[in-house]
Amino acid sequence: MCGIVAAVADRNIVPILLEGLRKLEYRGYDSAGLALIDASGLHRLRSVGRVIELTAQVEESHVAGETGIAHTRWATHGVPCERNAHPHISAGLAVVHNGIIENHESLRGRLKALGYQFTSDTDTEVVAHLIAHELKTAPDFLSAVRQAIAQLQGAYAIAVLRESDPSRLVVAREGAPLLLGLSDDACYAASDASALVQVTRRMVYLDNGDCAELMRGSYRITRVNGMPVERPESESQLSAEAIELGNYRHYMQKEIFEQPVALANTLEMLGSARSIQPGIFGAESETILGKVQQVLIIACGTSYHAGLVARYWLESIAGIPCSVEVASEYRYRDSVPNPQTLVVTISQSGETADTLAALQHAKALGMQHTLCICNVPESSLVRENSLRFITRAGPEIGVASTKAFTTQLAALYLLTLVLAKVRQRLDGLEEAAELYAVRHLPMAVAKILELEPQIREWAECFSMKQHALFLGRGRHYPIAMEGALKLKEISYIHAEAYPAGELKHGPLALVDRDMPVIAVAPNDALLEKLKSNLQEVRARGGELYVFADADSEMKESNGIQVLQLPEHYGALSALLHVVPLQLLAYHVALVRGTDVDKPRNLAKSVTVE
Ligand code: F6R
Repeated sequence: MCGIVAAVADRNIVPILLEGLRKLEYRGYDSAGLALIDASGLHRLRSVGRVIELTAQVEESHVAGETGIAHTRWATHGVPCERNAHPHISAGLAVVHNGIIENHESLRGRLKALGYQFTSDTDTEVVAHLIAHELKTAPDFLSAVRQAIAQLQGAYAIAVLRESDPSRLVVAREGAPLLLGLSDDACYAASDASALVQVTRRMVYLDNGDCAELMRGSYRITRVNGMPVERPESESQLSAEAIELGNYRHYMQKEIFEQPVALANTLEMLGSARSIQPGIFGAESETILGKVQQVLIIACGTSYHAGLVARYWLESIAGIPCSVEVASEYRYRDSVPNPQTLVVTISQSGETADTLAALQHAKALGMQHTLCICNVPESSLVRENSLRFITRAGPEIGVASTKAFTTQLAALYLLTLVLAKVRQRLDGLEEAAELYAVRHLPMAVAKILELEPQIREWAECFSMKQHALFLGRGRHYPIAMEGALKLKEISYIHAEAYPAGELKHGPLALVDRDMPVIAVAPNDALLEKLKSNLQEVRARGGELYVFADADSEMKESNGIQVLQLPEHYGALSALLHVVPLQLLAYHVALVRGTDVDKPRNLAKSVTVE
């Protein structure tokens, strides 16, 4: 979603702003813009489309300046067009914003009555006029921003510059991410660290309700009421190479192929021990995990699918009741809380607005034992949980989540083992065998990636289709859901997933020779039942693409294509069976020529409700 970069320095900051925007492109956007101050005053440039188009405008106009703000916009209020692109301007002020101002209509009405002219359809423009209005009475720039944001409802991260105060920027956050970058002669702000590692690794993460004034080489933070606060400085560990594409064609391809390393890094904390330590989830985890009576998993999208797989593991291996909720639904439904619940939130970004709000909701209902599984150590979600597991997938740039998903599953399997252990459901021998299987995951994924040539061939057959059905059973049903989600989001083929036994209760009506049916068919206790379900498809002329595994004895025949995964992986097979589905979606999208890393209408970090 929208990305912000801002800088105040003693040199031209335009290249820093543009490079920062380029690094934030992965978040998803449809227009870009910047504003800066030079000796002749305030300048604004905006363009619809990619950052490269804004860069061309910048080069043509030769603008340069030492104080500036820049933005990539993912449209919420108003279509993507230059008029709606940020920054928005009012009386010599320029504002960029990430989030949604929920009371923008009433503010707009009030500001219009006061004589302010609106030139866009955005909610952001009210922020610009509101600050300009407050400046008429406020003692200084920072106070004016504070007075303005005190009137906002909703979520925001903003950066503001003022033509008449060229050596200063003001930023603020409430519900959308924002951090500061520090160096001796400059100060920066951005939506995430990837935009700033080009210039500094010294970061300060703002809390909700913080407002900061940035000057060359110094800054101060206050709360909205003006009370000064200090926030700790940290050193970003993000490596510049991790966010480069290298020799890959797309980030999604890179991230699929990084999975063996991502898993190995995530599992590194196990060391070589034959037993698993509850402390991997945090210092207090042994006490807390020993007393919880049930697990509630909350997440969105792909992370939600990881939760659905985990439910099977938690109930069958750890013997603990588990429910899984879509965050955006959970926060608005009446539920029956049990204070002895372990609330597990799962998120790649740790900034998903619905997941964060659902966690607050669960806490407000009296559930205080919370654990998050997250890929971004500095994210809001991690800061909201006392128990946490940081997956070490490295930055995930492609909008379609891949390596984050498999590392989330690895973390959830470790949680299952720890809960099984503290509940005395795992003896020493079983524990050692489980850890052996877990440590084998990176190798097992690497072997599956070798199947790419065959999957590429299948992708050719798929590319002309308009619809696809994905089938799975048991813990592989969520994997079928994830396969369908991957295919639809990057290839735009309509895809649905069903538990295979449900086919005859409705979806079978859709099956004909134009409907490819993809089956996740590991050699487990449900295989024979699944085979019967597949016969039902074949009898209606449906074309079957079956992902089987060792010894499953599925034979290729007319209308049935079978791809054999090299081993059978027992309980962990769900984690491995998703990999060919990721590759399938990727290759179908390639054949169809879609924008694999930035599929239309989608954003990587969903920081609005
Ligand atoms: C799909 C995808 C999304 C995310 C969802 C939650 O490929 O990436 O469905 O999984 O938006 O995001 P996080 O995990 O960052 O909370």
